[in-house]
Amino acid sequence: MSRIFSGVQPTGNLHLGNYLGAIRNWVGLQENFECIFCIVDLHAITLPQDPEELRAHTREVTAVYIAAGIDPEKCIIFNQSMVPEHSELTWMLSCITPLGWLNRMTQFKAKAGKHRENAGLGLYAYPVLMAADILLYRATHVPVGDDQKQHLELARDIAGAFNQKYGVDYFPLPEPQILGAATRVMSLRDGSHKMSKSDDSDYSRLNMTDDADAIALKIRKARTDADPLPETPDGLANRAEAANLVEIYAALAETSVEEVCHKFAGKMFSEFKSELSDLAVARLGPIAREIGELKADPGYVDGILRSGTKRAGAIAKRHLHEIQDIVGLLRP
Ligand code: TRP
Repeated sequence: MSRIFSGVQPTGNLHLGNYLGAIRNWVGLQENFECIFCIVDLHAITLPQDPEELRAHTREVTAVYIAAGIDPEKCIIFNQSMVPEHSELTWMLSCITPLGWLNRMTQFKAKAGKHRENAGLGLYAYPVLMAADILLYRATHVPVGDDQKQHLELARDIAGAFNQKYGVDYFPLPEPQILGAATRVMSLRDGSHKMSKSDDSDYSRLNMTDDADAIALKIRKARTDADPLPETPDGLANRAEAANLVEIYAALAETSVEEVCHKFAGKMFSEFKSELSDLAVARLGPIAREIGELKADPGYVDGILRSGTKRAGAIAKRHLHEIQDIVGLLRP
């Protein structure tokens, strides 16, 4: 059977890139797969977090999942730390993961920066925790963005190493799932940088919680050039900011960049931006409103996490027992 696992870290406001690149694509999966969507708070604490904010962001990501159309009846939605088996399996997998494999992880090098000696052990072990997330449910498919491909590759290697070491065929090797055309949403201020959590300029990214006025203002202020929209995508070469806005339009309208160029060829960006703004408000406005309503009802959100935890925990517990038996750990 196919089972999907994916996760998002509760580290700050989710932005349009998180939605178009990941969460929106998950909505279609829930009809055909058993889906487990996790808010990975244990990954978040590999870097310093304010406890109050961490709690708030965990609830907020849950609200975004639901507002974006992920159905908590069909899928399992829960936060990682509530199922302690994630941490337990991480330890067992750590014991069979060679340091050499972890030393190759480019994200660790980027996050640890220059002072690698000061980086936490958790940051280094991050990909093993991610492998445990996936393997604990014996997931077969993992929708991930480009930045997580190396970690997923490592999860496959760890699964293979476990199976080989113990002479079993226990863990399926999880497949990366590439969904639709990859939507890379870049900063509204600099089209060659990703829309990211660390952007300090408030106008550079659209947040999933932005109301209509904020969306309109940010799109109006988005940087462009003085040329009109081209007839074909070729005319967007070396025009990163312009290309980004056209791609965002195409993604929101669920059409191609070709179509968008065709539709707006010769128009100035001032006019295009007002169309883009209307579209973004129409698509994102209702989601932002529902996020707002869910935020006002933390009891409901917590209830979703609790029931997701029960369902995830039942699978996790059963699998962990099987793994303990394979490894040779006595159980109570
Ligand atoms: N590391 C992922 C990210 O930052 C989040 C994540 C944690 C994840 N565990 C996972 C994604 C398991 C997919 C599967 O985006």
